[in-house]
Amino acid sequence: MSNHHLCNVSDIEEEDSKEFFIPKDEKEVSILAVKKDGMISVFLNNCPHLGVPMNLEPNRFLDVEKNFIMCSTHGALFKIDDGECVHGPCMGQNLTQIPHEIRGEELFIDKDL
Ligand code: FES
Repeated sequence: MSNHHLCNVSDIEEEDSKEFFIPKDEKEVSILAVKKDGMISVFLNNCPHLGVPMNLEPNRFLDVEKNFIMCSTHGALFKIDDGECVHGPCMGQNLTQIPHEIRGEELFIDKDL
């Protein structure tokens, strides 16, 4: 059951991404949500290459053409729908998907990340 309210669906623009910080064990976990073709994907903000956050600027996770999620450190590109790396040093590896659910206009994720 996805029980943590993340935001409203309309808070994420089409072909855009947004960063969220989720409290966990007295720390914060960074996650990102992307909307493309009306579909929303949610991932941990953790590059499988070196295990670091992927963005240098707040909320900026997409490449220029807005076709892929991009890691700013070494330019790895990940598919927006399933997080598979299709270019770069971690090719074939995946971003960790966060199960989510849309109820009405609201986006929820699993609280146990
Ligand atoms: S840390 Fe992300 S591509 Fe190297």
